[in-house]
Amino acid sequence: MGKVYVFDHPLIQHKLTYIRDKNTGTKEFRELVDEVASLMAFEITRDLPLQEVQIETPVCPATAKALAGKKLGIVPILRAGLGMVDGILKLIPAAKVGHVGLYRDPETLKPVEYYVKLPSDVEERDFIVVDPMLATGGSAVEAINSIKKRGAVSIKFMCLIAAPEGVEEIKTAHPDVDIYIAALDEKLNEKGYIIPGLGDAGDRMFGTK
Ligand code: URA
Repeated sequence: MGKVYVFDHPLIQHKLTYIRDKNTGTKEFRELVDEVASLMAFEITRDLPLQEVQIETPVCPATAKALAGKKLGIVPILRAGLGMVDGILKLIPAAKVGHVGLYRDPETLKPVEYYVKLPSDVEERDFIVVDPMLATGGSAVEAINSIKKRGAVSIKFMCLIAAPEGVEEIKTAHPDVDIYIAALDEKLNEKGYIIPGLGDAGDRMFGTK
């Protein structure tokens, strides 16, 4: 069964409070999401393998550690997931970025993929699927389906705020996927918004309504 990690670092929690606040404007919202995504990337990359390398400091030769070159991929779910990409890339600039776009079928109300573009070496990469909000879990589950269908075998899911319903949905559909969250909120309301949440992440990030 996939594990769920809630990052309760004080800096993450502090910034999340301002992200949630309805008086935070678009520019600041975007900057804060970017910063929290970086802080979460710092935590999520804790298990990256290292290798020993030989270097020379100004004083003497030394054996030091460097990343072993694991191939990473970030996959934002369009559109709100885009706001987390740059923050992650600041820490792992060599990661490749795929994209998954989903729309909601008006009859079944289920998410359907309309756009998927991934790096060509899908099987060799560790992927982090990102979306700020994990609400019902429908989009996250479908996005993970989309990349698994194309050969992805190592996948993590990262979001800012999750509802318990969404976490359960991913755990059931994709028990191999670990989930990384900045805050686990109370519930969904009747319109599918996370309570207390932050409202519509895409609209707040891009200034649309
Ligand atoms: N998507 C959002 O942007 N906000 C929510 O509260 C739920 C889904």
